[in-house]
Amino acid sequence: MTAIDLRSDTVTRPTASMRAAMAAAEVGDDVYRDDPTVNLLEARVADRFGFEAAVFFATGTQSNLAALMAHCGRGDEYLVGQEAHTYKYEQGGAAVLGSIQPQPLENEADGSISLERIAAAIKPDDIHFARTRVLALENTIAGRVLSLEYLRAATDMAHARGLATHLDGARVFNAAVKLGVTAARAVRGFDSVSICLSKGLGAPAGSVLVGSRDFATAARRWRKALGGGMRQVGVLAAAGLHALDHHVERLAEDHANAMFLADRLRAAGLRVEIPQTNMVYLSLSPAQVAPLAAHLSKHGVLASIGERTRLVTHLDLSRSALERVADLITAHFAGA
Ligand SMILES: Cc1ncc(COP(=O)(O)O)c(C=O)c1O
Repeated sequence: MTAIDLRSDTVTRPTASMRAAMAAAEVGDDVYRDDPTVNLLEARVADRFGFEAAVFFATGTQSNLAALMAHCGRGDEYLVGQEAHTYKYEQGGAAVLGSIQPQPLENEADGSISLERIAAAIKPDDIHFARTRVLALENTIAGRVLSLEYLRAATDMAHARGLATHLDGARVFNAAVKLGVTAARAVRGFDSVSICLSKGLGAPAGSVLVGSRDFATAARRWRKALGGGMRQVGVLAAAGLHALDHHVERLAEDHANAMFLADRLRAAGLRVEIPQTNMVYLSLSPAQVAPLAAHLSKHGVLASIGERTRLVTHLDLSRSALERVADLITAHFAGA
């Protein structure tokens, strides 16, 4: 029996039909732009998000980094949330590898960065300062959805101040499904967006970066320097195409499952935030952490248990698996 794995939506395995699509993929050398399946994926994603061009990347980290390097030069800076993946969870790659200074800004409780904070952080044109070039946002951010109104206000303001706008849209389809809007509508106002195929969409690897034709050309160039020029990678692009056709609308099931789990945990007397998409956040006291981790592990449930525990729903977790998790946690706290 496969373990029930709540650590992330990256743990999904390709379905049988996804594997069949991968096996049947036509391929070629993508560095020469000869891979028809990659070319098709790039065209389809660009079109779906309303952009001129797209570039296929191995990972979201590489895609975000190439995007920042395409927007910024050495000594430029980008504005980014303290909690953002590109700032906190990518080893500072933009600074380390791109010579781009991050200007981290406090995220509000809803995941946004206040417009006042953004405006105050934009540096004047002065020899002492890095040149502020980009506002980078993330949606969803730790499972929270930024509103369309906020995104419009933030991107309008950034553009009015001469900045480019980048979205880490690793889970932007979760945001679009939750908001009930198209992918293109969900990212309106951004000059570039990085979209992951390997999270809720269930592909084994791959991210797609969209932007203008010139931007994509620059990002493709950086991709090669970053060691991301892949060859017969249509096998992965085929998984992405399959995911786009079959795994987008179903994200609503993951959201409903997260809500179900949160309701059950709350009913068990636990402190749980109301999930907006596929992530449930549970607060535990320090003393509760190790016993719960041991209990779940003993019963074959994989989860990163801490004082702030994140439980993630996904394609490989059925409602009955979540019922079992809820039963196990309820029984644990009831002392059964
Ligand atoms: C919000 C966000 N952005 C970017 C990434 C990076 O993606 P990858 O793991 O493919 O590098 C992740 C990975 O979990 C993520 O959660």
